[in-house]
Amino acid sequence: MTQQTILTGQVLSFDRSPFEDPPKEAARLDEAVVLQGGHVAAVGTAAGLRAGFPHAKVVDHGRHVIMAGFVDAHVHYPQTAMIASWGKRLIDWLNTYTFPEEMKFADPAYAGEIAGRYLDLTAAHGTTTMCSFCTIHPASVDAIFAAAQARGQRVVAGKTCMDRNAPDGLRDTAQSAYDDSKALLKRWHGIDRLSYAITPRFSPTSTPDQLQALGALWSEHPDCLMQTHLSEQTDEIDWVRSLYPSARDYLDTYEAHGLLGRNGLYGHAIHLEPRERDRLREVGAALVHCPTSNTFIGSGLFDMAGLMAEGQRIGLATDTGGGSSFSMLRTMAAAYEIGQLRGTALHPAQLLWLATAGSAHALGMGSMIGNLAAGMEADLVVLDLCSTPAIAQRAERAGDIWEALFPTIMMGDDRAVAEVWIGGNRAVSR
Ligand code: GUN
Ligand code: ZN
Repeated sequence: MTQQTILTGQVLSFDRSPFEDPPKEAARLDEAVVLQGGHVAAVGTAAGLRAGFPHAKVVDHGRHVIMAGFVDAHVHYPQTAMIASWGKRLIDWLNTYTFPEEMKFADPAYAGEIAGRYLDLTAAHGTTTMCSFCTIHPASVDAIFAAAQARGQRVVAGKTCMDRNAPDGLRDTAQSAYDDSKALLKRWHGIDRLSYAITPRFSPTSTPDQLQALGALWSEHPDCLMQTHLSEQTDEIDWVRSLYPSARDYLDTYEAHGLLGRNGLYGHAIHLEPRERDRLREVGAALVHCPTSNTFIGSGLFDMAGLMAEGQRIGLATDTGGGSSFSMLRTMAAAYEIGQLRGTALHPAQLLWLATAGSAHALGMGSMIGNLAAGMEADLVVLDLCSTPAIAQRAERAGDIWEALFPTIMMGDDRAVAEVWIGGNRAVSR
């Protein structure tokens, strides 16, 4: 019989979306979760599950919170080593820091080193799945998929395509972007827990021909995700307008080339026009909120409340290394702060849902990851709600689970991550 493991603690999961139902009612608290064969076998009372699974090994986590591992819906793993680079806004930041670093991924050994470092760092922060941009180099895609495969991890990634407005050595062509993306997709998509995302970086670094070629590839493989950037900074939007004079708006540069669809992931999406919001909702595309990046690069305040109210699908992301942290806890805190600046206080249940089920649904993986229920994949994080003296003294006077969790959301980091399980195996133990 395959090994069964029971984890006991405060097991947090969601029956519904806390944006559609009262947050406290959307969430549920149990006492134990059973893992077997890489999946969740059951969630329930400690006594009931001990009786139902008498041969299981029991790991008691006391008052720690056990929940689905964090899902980071938009990252650039190649930017790991240049995170927290000072003083620039988007286009200058790309040219000054990002492109020189991404150039180094021409060396497959460097790509392998950073891929491993990135997956180690993010696991330590409780992140079990991410959707990553790579660089233009196919070896950068091989590196992250090989590292994820070795860890048994569910990862989405794709070759970043750019055929203009990028330096020598960091440009492909419309044809090579199509050919390389197709070859990588065939090599990796659907292998183990890996999936490929077609990845035009953003409209300014692709010619219309390249967008068209990638749109054609997506129409041949509509089950793949397509990830890109949309309306992050006002200077960027002005640039897009001058590069695509006949486009109705930024989204139209994608739409006109077959790059708008339900499996599309649009990072940032801050300064949207009414037509763009309507079209994104009509097709059921996913928007990805990157709050630490949006404050760090000075991009603007994402309209979480308004976009949720109109029925958009939204995930949460670090946007490493435009984002200033690998931590989805820190990212939830930034989402809370941006909500406050817009006059909406996001409930802790909403923040935790965004970082797990919300992002999983944005990736079209909501039935596999991002929640704890029988049949879901066994990716879990165990959170210590008293990980530092400052957090502990606040959590001690909490009246309920949400008040106990909120200091960890606002002040926590990798020290709050007591244990991480990936695919039913313990990947991190503090
Ligand atoms: N827009 C195009 N490329 C990037 C990137 O690497 N990071 C961010 N934050 N925005 C982008
Ligand atoms: Zn990005």
